[in-house]
Amino acid sequence: MTEDHPLNRDEMLAVLDWYRAAGVDIAVGEEPVDRFAQRVPNRTAPAAVASPVTAVDSPAVRRAADSASEGPTVLLGGDPAEARALAASATTLEQLEALLGAYDGCGLKLRATQLVFADGNPQADIMLIGEAPGAEEDHQGKPFVGKSGQLLDRMLKAIGLDRTRVYIANTVPWRPPGNRTPTPEEMALCLPFLHRQVELVAPKIVMTLGGPAMQTIFDTTAGIIKMRGKWSTLSIGSRQVEAIPTLHPAYLLRNARAKEQAWADMLSLRMKIEALGLDG
Ligand code: URA
Repeated sequence: MTEDHPLNRDEMLAVLDWYRAAGVDIAVGEEPVDRFAQRVPNRTAPAAVASPVTAVDSPAVRRAADSASEGPTVLLGGDPAEARALAASATTLEQLEALLGAYDGCGLKLRATQLVFADGNPQADIMLIGEAPGAEEDHQGKPFVGKSGQLLDRMLKAIGLDRTRVYIANTVPWRPPGNRTPTPEEMALCLPFLHRQVELVAPKIVMTLGGPAMQTIFDTTAGIIKMRGKWSTLSIGSRQVEAIPTLHPAYLLRNARAKEQAWADMLSLRMKIEALGLDG
């Protein structure tokens, strides 16, 4: 666009299409802002913010702290210590949902339509944890209701489960713009709420879906292909659970051959439910 030749309608639509293909699907303001014209202050991440980040020793938090020290313009949003205190103060899932809904520490909330807290049965013995809501989840306010959710439902059905028998949440409860992977900072800020959610649901089994959810819950930097299908006994908050990572349904939609591995993991889940004598 030049000043003497504004874009016509077709050209504007073409630009919007291009933005959408690049993952830019949300307007954050009415007026365009020329960020290049703004001066970027040359500052390092403030020590006052960095210290609570390093106060909890976990890969997610260490990755957040590392990325804060990587460059001069990285800003951390909220304070993980505040997130932990807030999450710990919830004594019911309803309170936790309300606290999370009012929590402004994680920047993802700004661009999401709404909080996507959970779906399924809060009394279930089995909890599934995904990565982050997508467009359809953001629209409906429930996890796994888009295409990957439909596949997840079929995977559950194949081993005799459905959403009345499992509880479903995500590592972050707001949709990242353009469906990008949540950053380590975003996951670290939401993690205390997820841990509290696990404590309040008190499942016996946790299944994580995809690499980022596995890394967050299993507190590891290992890859999903190596880790999937392996059971561990994990302490999540004050709870001990049997936990297994599997592949993300969205990955299975793109890689049909990997369904065989996911099927083995689902059968392993079925066997664990039976071995523990659970109502699943
Ligand atoms: N993918 C996820 O990880 N979570 C959802 O809720 C939807 C898609």
